[in-house]
Amino acid sequence: MALKIVLLAGDGTGPEVMREGVKVLKAVESAYGLSFELTPYPCGGQHYLDTGEEWPDSAFEACKAADAILLGAVGIPEARLPNGDLAGAGVIFGLRFGLDLYANVRPTKLYPNVRHKVHDSFKQVWEPGKVDFVIVRENTEGLYTPARGFLSRGGVDELAVDSRVITRKGAERVIRYAFELSRSRKGAPGDGKSRVTCVDKSNVVAGDRLFRNVFDEVATRYPGIAKDYAYIDAFLQWLVRSPEAYDVAVAPNEFGDIATDLAAVLQGGMGMAAGGNIGDAHGMFEPVHGSSPKHAGKDEVNPMAMILAVQMMLDWLGRRRQEQALREAAAAVEKAVVDVLKAGKVLTYDLGGTAKCSQVGTAIASRVKAAK
Ligand code: IPM
Ligand code: MG
Repeated sequence: MALKIVLLAGDGTGPEVMREGVKVLKAVESAYGLSFELTPYPCGGQHYLDTGEEWPDSAFEACKAADAILLGAVGIPEARLPNGDLAGAGVIFGLRFGLDLYANVRPTKLYPNVRHKVHDSFKQVWEPGKVDFVIVRENTEGLYTPARGFLSRGGVDELAVDSRVITRKGAERVIRYAFELSRSRKGAPGDGKSRVTCVDKSNVVAGDRLFRNVFDEVATRYPGIAKDYAYIDAFLQWLVRSPEAYDVAVAPNEFGDIATDLAAVLQGGMGMAAGGNIGDAHGMFEPVHGSSPKHAGKDEVNPMAMILAVQMMLDWLGRRRQEQALREAAAAVEKAVVDVLKAGKVLTYDLGGTAKCSQVGTAIASRVKAAK
């Protein structure tokens, strides 16, 4: 039976990288005897300007009924809702909150032949293999809780309030996810030890104290995994200095948002960073980069983040459905990316090459096919 996948290409470079993701999915289909029913829906800021809605209601229903969702990127600076919010963000939050995708899973892995984006003098410090950790970001509460607003007097905004909500349930399930993930990995590259780092600001903030207390409770169920703590400010410093010390880190929503952009620097930039928004019943996968309007329409951005999101989706589907072919296909996609990187001939500008986005997609898709 065909697996139902909803495609939300969205704005800017979203449609370009989505095309390459689909190319790889088609290659997987023919090589691994799998069948995908791909259904695209329009969405995003441009769609809002054209139609007055961020996405059709039927798109959310289709996402709910799908086996998995792939998202490109949403948002263009000129498209704003009447309340000032970025038009298109409702798609991301509609899915994260509406489908209860509580774990935002963002792997940071420095692949061979990719240079991290810190100043060149650091070039020799990190070899491939030394950066291989995952940040698991809480995805349904924290500072993203929609209890917020402005106090206006006479049409002038005088005061703004955002509520940061941390619940036991929200903390417990994402922390459990992080421990389970650590159990399935090989540990931190530095010492091979399985370790989960609780990233918070529990020295000051009440919600973070709750988050850390729940972390301690969950940790007792995983005696084989080392527990580790870091305040968010110090964590960012240590992450850049010693990325090899980390296996899995778990953080409240807004800290995870910030930390994962920084982490992308360690893996060669946003063009390499993929993420999964995962709940108990649904999964949505996306490149972490946004719509990058200045690069849009030029066929020049790196599609690897999207292709690695496809790889995460296949692996997630494979584990969930206990289908070996899907997991093998996921491994083949990652290997094809690594082979293209090692060969070093078909790379986009961000990795020092001159190839087009579509050429990279084609190179990866043909290696997926050839490997079988
Ligand atoms: C991300 C993005 C989003 C977020 C934006 C686009 C709303 O930065 O996925 O990290 O803040 O979560
Ligand atoms: Mg972000």
